[in-house]
Amino acid sequence: MIIEPRMRGFICLTAHPVGCEQNVINQINYVKSKGKIDGPKRVLVIGASTGFGLASRITSAFGSDASTIGIFFEKPSSPGKLATPGWYNTAAFEKQAQEAGLYAKSINGDAFSNEVKEKTLALIKEDLGQIDLVVYSLASPVRTDPTTGITHRSVLKPIGAPFKNKTVDFHSGKVTEISIDPCTEEDIQNTIKVMGGEDWEMWIDGLKAANLLAPNALTIAYSYIGPELTEPVYRKGTIGRAKDHLEATAFTIADKLSDIGGNAYVSVNKALVTQASSAIPVIPLYISLLYKVMKAEGIHEGCIEQIQRLYSERLYTGGNVPVDEKGRIRIDDWEMRADVQAKVAALWEEATTENLPSIGDLEGYSNDFYNLFGFKVGGVDYTADTNEVVEIPGLQ
Ligand code: NAD
Ligand code: NA
Repeated sequence: MIIEPRMRGFICLTAHPVGCEQNVINQINYVKSKGKIDGPKRVLVIGASTGFGLASRITSAFGSDASTIGIFFEKPSSPGKLATPGWYNTAAFEKQAQEAGLYAKSINGDAFSNEVKEKTLALIKEDLGQIDLVVYSLASPVRTDPTTGITHRSVLKPIGAPFKNKTVDFHSGKVTEISIDPCTEEDIQNTIKVMGGEDWEMWIDGLKAANLLAPNALTIAYSYIGPELTEPVYRKGTIGRAKDHLEATAFTIADKLSDIGGNAYVSVNKALVTQASSAIPVIPLYISLLYKVMKAEGIHEGCIEQIQRLYSERLYTGGNVPVDEKGRIRIDDWEMRADVQAKVAALWEEATTENLPSIGDLEGYSNDFYNLFGFKVGGVDYTADTNEVVEIPGLQ
């Protein structure tokens, strides 16, 4: 079929298998171009099919020759029905991994469930024996707690007072004022349940109890801080409370891993266009201004550049892992540079529908968004008849 983008609100309903494949190949080539990393050899990535998790899987495999197991929740393809991008990304990744002689298997299902955890532990036991690195990179709006059976929904809201600020609809380019009402106490607790550290700890507890973590094993989860501008809706809002919980959980897990010489980290990553971040109000306007400034400074990075730098310059240097005063790895260092933030803050004051295309990188934002779904990727023939059915070779 001929596959075209079909947008509805903040999502795209279609995905292009060849475009997704090309994105993965581009990321693999980037990692290879940076040379070998003396990193992990057996890696479990939870949330492995898109964004930072996919970049972590690619960096592990093609930077450090790692065997990888990837967990994700994606819609498969079938005749006449397109898969979600993460399915096509994973199919492309596994094909490339196989050709390179690298072990790669995947499990598609709810990572929050006991069933997927049990299946994963059995696969590790059977195939890899133990794991050197567990990457926890889930972004989800819902979680069913396997212990209580209760389904929790996260919300993106300010705490205590309404938040009024500018935002942009990146499809139309329209800059408008929005006002978001504050959350309830229950919203905070639900968001912590979904995006906090409880499930990460459950994964590590399960792996450790089954003796599936290698000596000196590491685990890492991803967080975000961002500028003052977005604080009410991000870091000091409901999602920020969940990130506080995730960051605190790193210390709990680190204690639990100390007897095997292991450790747990949170890495604070840069703001990037992903399916998760596009849904957060205000963030797209901030990202479009940030991209403009960082590109002008020659310090712009995507997920793959971020994670390649995280592995080669933070986690696997052979020396101590550098962390901030709260114990967090900071790979958002270039985003948070004082000069970058001052420029973004000044542009923010000026931004209007009329001037945003020139003072901000709205085009870069939009392009990255299309790229997430395999569209507007260089070198892909979008007029070609394309097979929508693609298999993941190592799917369990
Ligand atoms: P993403 O939406 O690109 O990836 C989410 C992944 O989780 C996908 O692989 C998806 O299949 C998987 N997933 C979702 N629900 C699942 C479930 N129930 N079971 C199994 N898999 C499931 O998101 P992302 O932006 O890469 O976010 C990953 C992490 O990075 C999050 O913790 C996020 O807060 C953090 N982060 C994001 C940004 C950003 O700007 N995008 C910045 C810093 C940190
Ligand atoms: Na991810």
